[in-house]
Amino acid sequence: MKNILIKKLEDKSLKVAVVGLGYVGLPLALEFSKSGYETVGVDISKERIEALNSFKSYVSDVPESELKSAISSGLMKATTDFSCIASVDFIAVCVPTPLDHQQPDLTCVKESLRSISEFLKKGSMVVLESTTHPGTTEGVAKDIIEKNSLLLCSRDFYLGFSPERVDPGNPEFNISNTAKIVAAIGEDALEVISRVYGEILKSKIHKVSSPSVAEMEKIFENTYRNINIALVNEMAVLCNKMNINVWEVIEAAKTKPYGFHAFYPGPGLGGHCIPLDPYYLSWKAREYDFHTSMIEVSAVINDSMPEYCVGRISKILNAFQKPLNGSKILVLGIAYKRDISDCRESPVLRILEKLKNAGARVDFYDAFVPKYIWKKQVFVGLETINENNIKGYDLVLIATDHSNVDYDMVAKSSKAVFDTRNALKNVEDRQNIELL
Ligand SMILES: NC(=O)c1ccc[n+]([C@@H]2O[C@H](COP(=O)([O-])OP(=O)(O)OC[C@H]3O[C@@H](n4cnc5c(N)ncnc54)[C@H](O)[C@@H]3O)[C@@H](O)[C@H]2O)c1
Repeated sequence: MKNILIKKLEDKSLKVAVVGLGYVGLPLALEFSKSGYETVGVDISKERIEALNSFKSYVSDVPESELKSAISSGLMKATTDFSCIASVDFIAVCVPTPLDHQQPDLTCVKESLRSISEFLKKGSMVVLESTTHPGTTEGVAKDIIEKNSLLLCSRDFYLGFSPERVDPGNPEFNISNTAKIVAAIGEDALEVISRVYGEILKSKIHKVSSPSVAEMEKIFENTYRNINIALVNEMAVLCNKMNINVWEVIEAAKTKPYGFHAFYPGPGLGGHCIPLDPYYLSWKAREYDFHTSMIEVSAVINDSMPEYCVGRISKILNAFQKPLNGSKILVLGIAYKRDISDCRESPVLRILEKLKNAGARVDFYDAFVPKYIWKKQVFVGLETINENNIKGYDLVLIATDHSNVDYDMVAKSSKAVFDTRNALKNVEDRQNIELL
């Protein structure tokens, strides 16, 4: 089995399927097809498949020109039909792993694996890329595939785990130049799966000894980020009380060439990964009578940031003898981070809700996110911002520092600005600016 797969890889006859075509799966499917492997993308969302087949990209890092050339060349196909699994050799699973009441929700992983198992042929490889807790691949995934396909892991099919590390909106690092962690059940599986990734990615392939190590590694990365952001958020709150500029503190600390990595404060945590993934570990840890106390503490700090920002806004307005109730507030940027259109878990949506609940009249502007849905209601943003419309607001909140905003103009035209991202760092006249 190993030699047949390696031969297929070498002569480019290896056929690939990517299941789940979102922020992770779509760029991966494209990368396979760009490397000359026939690739089929499978997703349960009809809208997404229709969009792809009309060359429409819904992932900002995937240019439509690349999508068009991959699909029109015939090297990439997109479908909702899992029967294509019967004719592929390598299957990457990139479906969501959300939370349900702060507990892991593996429904999409389980359902996709059941659908794959129905058509899985002898001699193929399945690799889970979705972030999940240690034990998922060797326990949940293996059991589902073996039970539903009647094939035996390591003898009839290879099973592996390779976490995705894509950082949406990062212009420097992407899947082809970020080291790829690969793990599998059994030596042969590890060798072939590593060679597959080695063939399509320019990056280093880092093998680890078991899927549990790789699953833990991924959650450790994101927990590290989560906890360090909590630390710097707490520093920001304290610095404000002490009248110290936390941003200047960070810039100074950054000059140390070792032992310090800069993280920045903000209005809270967002996205599908950093706020969620640590809970997968806290949940799993309970099986071992273990409390992940640092994860809990950092969640308390990070989750309090939207409320804290609303408190600061209220204080700023108070200085102008304005109550929050009835004030006009413009929120700039609602995506969870700079230069992307992803609003999932964005703390800004919680700030918007809190401001509205307090009676403020709130508008938002985000060139990447013209509208958003919150609790089943659609909210539409301003089409543009300029000196004239900004002047009509009592306060401007810079919540996400997209790079396509003229921040000089914002500073000059606003009565008051609360800048949670230090987007106005180069503005000299700072009388109307308050920093997080
Ligand atoms: N977004 C990121 O930056 C990022 C980074 C690293 C890791 N991850 C992890 O990668 C995984 C995928 O995340 P994403 O951001 O790409 O999610 P996403 O929501 O953007 O895309 C997931 C896709 O899977 C599809 N899907 C759901 N159930 C399915 C099923 N049963 N069969 C087939 N398709 C199904 C959805 O329709 C959707 O198109 C998650 O585990 C996430 O934690 C995400």
